[in-house]
Amino acid sequence: LFASVEMAPRDPILGLNEQFNADPNPKKVNLGVGVYTDDQGKLPLLKCVAAAEKQMSEAPKARGYLPIDGIVAYDKAVQGLVFGAEHPAVKGGRIATAQAIGGTGGLKLGADFLKRLQPNAQVLISDPSWENHRALFETAGFPVDVYPYYDAANRGINFEGMIAKLKAAAAGTIVLLHACCHNPTGYDLTDAQWDEVIAVIKAQGLIPFLDMAYQGFGNGIAEDGAVVIKFLDAGLSYFVSTSFSKSFSLYGERVGALSIVSETAEECGRVLSQLKRVIRTNYSNPPTHGAQVVAMVLTSPELRKMWEDELAEMRDRIKVMRGALVENLQAAGVQGDLSYITRQKGMFSYSGLNAPQMQRLRSEFGVYGVDSGRICVAALNTGNLKYVADAIKAVM
Ligand code: LMR
Repeated sequence: LFASVEMAPRDPILGLNEQFNADPNPKKVNLGVGVYTDDQGKLPLLKCVAAAEKQMSEAPKARGYLPIDGIVAYDKAVQGLVFGAEHPAVKGGRIATAQAIGGTGGLKLGADFLKRLQPNAQVLISDPSWENHRALFETAGFPVDVYPYYDAANRGINFEGMIAKLKAAAAGTIVLLHACCHNPTGYDLTDAQWDEVIAVIKAQGLIPFLDMAYQGFGNGIAEDGAVVIKFLDAGLSYFVSTSFSKSFSLYGERVGALSIVSETAEECGRVLSQLKRVIRTNYSNPPTHGAQVVAMVLTSPELRKMWEDELAEMRDRIKVMRGALVENLQAAGVQGDLSYITRQKGMFSYSGLNAPQMQRLRSEFGVYGVDSGRICVAALNTGNLKYVADAIKAVM
């Protein structure tokens, strides 16, 4: 039966974890996957999460099936966080939010939903994008093309190229956009550039799909979420996939959501009914624990404050590491303008190193980053910075 099954290539991001775990090098550093570790190199259990779990363990509950679209209080809390509880679109019942299996799950639900709605559409993702975007939309049955994004020569965004591609796209094209902390480049559009993108999307009749996996890791929770509200205020119908893997350090719980903004509450009811069919035929209904934790934290003023402070602490530490990486690279003898590292937002720095250089970093130094040149700054710490900087210098 399986004689013709070919060996699949390893996943470009998660496959690195397997390689890293098997590496006997005592100095190895994992800058591959987008995971935040603290200055001791440990994955944090946030205090707000521990406090919510303590409350839950003091009043243990049986685990029945959840509604198909997830915990009602969770979906409501996500809407409040992402769109603002007082926004007329939220109050007017124009947004359908369903709990999803992480941000990836939210993307997949949206992709499957769109395949039923717009079976012949094309998907455009940024060049480059998160490695899984292309695979995920292709697996859902869409042809996937790219719009220009990274400008290597200027260490920034090729905005003209991006706009030109969007202007040339056919009506009904699905455009995948990173709401904040672009993965992998770390370069985000300015406010004015977002306005221009929104105007083109409107004029061309494109379908926006926002991926927001790093809210709070750029400039702040509200600041990073501002783009989502811009689309709302523009009166567009669109999709938003959100993730709490990073912002709650709940990677393994797979807590995310998909929100779909419709024109009217009546339309929204029909959209939600179809979305529930997609969920039911994929995994029936979502799991209880992680979403319960997030809902408790977001709805308790005390725990919410704790979360916002802890998220700010992670964000600030990453910024300190960016500055320290620049200093350590300079100390290692790397010449030139390195200010791009502190301009980039979120967990990643797009180093500009090529695949052979990234492979050398792994094989000679046990420093793991993605072949695209992406390194996770959120996994740097005072103990590994110098080693990493020296290794980067050595392969340059
Ligand atoms: C990443 O980009 O490293 C994260 O989003 C984790 C993943 O699933 O790839």
